[in-house]
Amino acid sequence: MDEFKAIDRASSNAEKYQLREKLFGSNDVQPLWVADMDIATPQCVLEVVKHRLNHPILGYEMMPRSAFEAQCAWILSHHAWRIDPQWLLYSPSVVASLGCAVRALSKVGDEIIVMSPVYPPFFTVVTDNHRQVIRYSLTQNGEGNYSLDSRDLERLITPKTTMLLLCSPHNPIGRVWDKDELKALGAFCLAHNITIVSDEIHSDLVFEGHCHTPIASLSPELSESTVTLLGVGKTFNMSGFGISTVCIASKRLREKFQYETQKIHWGEGSVLSHVAFEAAYNEGGQWHQRLLMHLSGNKERLLQWSDSQNFITVMPPEGTYLAWLDCRPLGLNDRDLRHFMVHEARLGVSMGVSFGKEGSGFVRLNFAIARDSLEEALNRLNTALAKLSL
Ligand SMILES: Cc1ncc(COP(=O)(O)O)c(C=O)c1O
Repeated sequence: MDEFKAIDRASSNAEKYQLREKLFGSNDVQPLWVADMDIATPQCVLEVVKHRLNHPILGYEMMPRSAFEAQCAWILSHHAWRIDPQWLLYSPSVVASLGCAVRALSKVGDEIIVMSPVYPPFFTVVTDNHRQVIRYSLTQNGEGNYSLDSRDLERLITPKTTMLLLCSPHNPIGRVWDKDELKALGAFCLAHNITIVSDEIHSDLVFEGHCHTPIASLSPELSESTVTLLGVGKTFNMSGFGISTVCIASKRLREKFQYETQKIHWGEGSVLSHVAFEAAYNEGGQWHQRLLMHLSGNKERLLQWSDSQNFITVMPPEGTYLAWLDCRPLGLNDRDLRHFMVHEARLGVSMGVSFGKEGSGFVRLNFAIARDSLEEALNRLNTALAKLSL
């Protein structure tokens, strides 16, 4: 049995499918936008949820310590980072944690560094909370690669710059920041007293040849000045459970964060999500290995397709299941590129420009799908490209 086969989601309430008509004007588009997987959540998670329902009471429950311990053990074995379970707090979502960290650990009017293009809530959690975005533009070097040079940050900051929002690995460009880049970034933040909020939700989805380094693991000083956002959502395709965690080693920062969560009665999450979270970390290891092989196969197929034509270049993803497609050789503006993707290729992809102006001319394509579905997407693109060159 192919455990990564296509599954009908159009009949479930999946956002990616339900919003097609509204966003793209048609249900005919293949939805490759929202970052969840069209791949079944691991069996060990589905089983434990069914088992929990044998108990007929679904009242308030707390996040069990054993669930935090399971996450600590996973992170130690996968990322060589030793976390004390006491540093972990429950959160309903990583985006909620981002917003909460901004409110708890910076002041109205502060400046916050955001590396653009990036997952859009990175901007809105800053502006919606009346802080200012300091935009660090990620651009390609001569060889077409994105890199992080902390020296460029020096000229952007002012005494009002108090926080940096890091996306590691980075959505949408697919970079897995290497240790030297992160060391330099960490040293820069320590030198300027800048708190780091590091969204590491994609950290378990890294391809061979690359290694995720949690920035907080680099030194005791960075551990004390970093808030790390973690979760099962991407790794095990469990985003609909509404469960993630926040890791804060510093007691001072942790208490500030908790004070903010108490003000809004943040809670401890749902009964079914607790058991699912713990089972995923304890029992999902082999499934995760197979998932990485499947995603890696899809990534290779995309790169092979990229080489087969001259109009769209797939930037080699180092991590995440999101491919960043450079469509600039098509010579279309963003409005026409959208029209091409939706009406000619019939693909519901994310427009690069929605991640920041640096994303103009790019689109993001979610390749966490069955191989047949990927072939269908590539066929659609080939047909559309063939018409374009007539
Ligand atoms: C970098 C990043 N952070 C956070 C999220 C969303 O996480 P959550 O659903 O836990 O809010 C996503 C989803 O695409 C993401 O790519």
